[in-house]
Amino acid sequence: MRDHSSRGAMLLDPEPSSSIPASIRLDRARLLDALTTARLNPSTATLRRSINDLRTGVRSSAGAYRVRGLREAAEFTPEFLDEEFDQICGAQTLDRARYYVDRLIKSITEVRTSAINDINLNRWKEYEDIQTDSLWLVANRERGGAHSAKYWGNFVPQIPHQMMRRYTKAGDWVLDVFAGSGTSLIEGQRLGRNTIGIELQPQVARMARKAIASEPNAFDVTSQVVCGDSASIDARKLLRAHGQETAQLVIMHPPYFDIIKFSEDERDLSNAPSVEAFLDTIGRVVDNVAPVLDRGRYLAVVIGDKYANGEWVPLGFRTMDAIQQRGFMLKSVIVKNFEQTTAKRQQKELWKYRALAGGFYVFKHEYIFVFKKVHK
Ligand SMILES: C[S@@+](CC[C@H](N)C(=O)[O-])C[C@H]1O[C@@H](n2cnc3c(N)ncnc32)[C@H](O)[C@@H]1O
Repeated sequence: MRDHSSRGAMLLDPEPSSSIPASIRLDRARLLDALTTARLNPSTATLRRSINDLRTGVRSSAGAYRVRGLREAAEFTPEFLDEEFDQICGAQTLDRARYYVDRLIKSITEVRTSAINDINLNRWKEYEDIQTDSLWLVANRERGGAHSAKYWGNFVPQIPHQMMRRYTKAGDWVLDVFAGSGTSLIEGQRLGRNTIGIELQPQVARMARKAIASEPNAFDVTSQVVCGDSASIDARKLLRAHGQETAQLVIMHPPYFDIIKFSEDERDLSNAPSVEAFLDTIGRVVDNVAPVLDRGRYLAVVIGDKYANGEWVPLGFRTMDAIQQRGFMLKSVIVKNFEQTTAKRQQKELWKYRALAGGFYVFKHEYIFVFKKVHK
């Protein structure tokens, strides 16, 4: 669906942008008139004929249905319209055919969104670029605009993109409490979402600010990177500085414990002395930001597992458990393929040998845990 926030890459697609179907703009009034007239047909056969005439008219690029001048437009993907027409023509009874015509009229005249996003449920079939499955195979990192893959340990822009499209409306406020290179903030700026990112390392925060400043800000939103510790920073104060009391989405992409050491700072989660201490700090971060998240809104956590002394440490599930224990409702566990580092790719054969000899499997996935705040 090509609204202002639908520029997103379709996951599973090696060439993201090419997968978004082009839309056609039709003369809204004329289209509604044709559908209302078709609906009045006395039999399925004549109704089908009217719909097929309409289909031909709509397909013709020079036809009467193409919007001209200042006339109001109805925008569709050709696939959506074709499917709707097919369904009307395939109906066995006149009542059923009229029901499908009514549904199509509704999708043109009414916008039905939920409280947490801008997805028009009357046009749900068109959101091909929005993921609803729990297995994400991201073929390529989205590289448009200010996004860069340079920061070691960053996530692909498709993750915050999907989270913001599913769990925020335009103009909402998003907190990314482990902002790193600012991927969520860049994405928020593109989607018209306000973002505040918290990052412990001053030089990383500076780098993120620079990248964000180079990204166009068509929706004139706030994208602020603050330097601080997410376990103790006053999140309410950060929001109040912008006249806000609460945020509508929290994104957490913490260090995966000690897999990558991000700094020497002892407050850095990658320096936690043990898994228990890591989980304890994750809990403190959640306790710190949960009060500013609106009830009914979402918290997304991106994390992977690790090996220690030949044993798989289920960091992801333990983190999930720690957050559930804080009263958040688990809504989804998404498994996403892991981008191979160049070093690992070069050593693929060696890793295969190690796995065979050591009786383990090589990491290929990470998790996105999606929680809903259900309590005050
Ligand atoms: C996995 S990275 C996040 C990467 C980010 N999603 C991106 O795309 O660039 C984790 C980040 O959390 C930061 N960090 C670690 N402990 C922190 C803490 N207590 N408060 C705030 N940031 C912290 C690290 O410096 C690191 O930049």
